[in-house]
Amino acid sequence: METVYRLLAALLALGALCEAEPMKFRDCGSTAGKIIQVDVTPCPTLPCVLHKGKSYAVNVTFTSKTSSQTSVAAVHGILSGVPIPFSIPNSDGCKSGIRCPIRNNQIYHYINYLPVKNEYPSIKVVVEWELKDENDKDLFCWRLPVQIAN
Ligand SMILES: *[C@@H]1O[C@H](CO)[C@@H](O)[C@H](O)[C@H]1NC(C)=O
Repeated sequence: METVYRLLAALLALGALCEAEPMKFRDCGSTAGKIIQVDVTPCPTLPCVLHKGKSYAVNVTFTSKTSSQTSVAAVHGILSGVPIPFSIPNSDGCKSGIRCPIRNNQIYHYINYLPVKNEYPSIKVVVEWELKDENDKDLFCWRLPVQIAN
């Protein structure tokens, strides 16, 4: 009996560890900021399996390296090198957890979500998420492989 409890405790600890593990994203040219952490939930393993009709929470923690009155997000799916725009509910970064104007050298949490539409094809694709400052420079740009599924 004790063995079972120990096993359970070990499994729970492992689960907590996995959840806390930062995501392995690729930086695609964050010049006006520095990414600290990217969280997409739920996405326990890469590629993220994104189910149609579901919505996924996105939380990007970054440090600004510039000041800006505005911030605008652009999301693309990259299919064989070709970026296809993905629509997100609100592209205004200043309404996505960020208090504008953005000040230099501050930590921000960009909070948004990605709805996966039913009409999307079931494909493997790289998601590219950018947040642009008033000069069209990337406060952040990251890429993550995803699999769209039913
Ligand atoms: C976003 O991530 C940061 C860093 O992990 C965390 O402190 C913050 O609570 C998260 N915010 C939300 C709304 O999940």
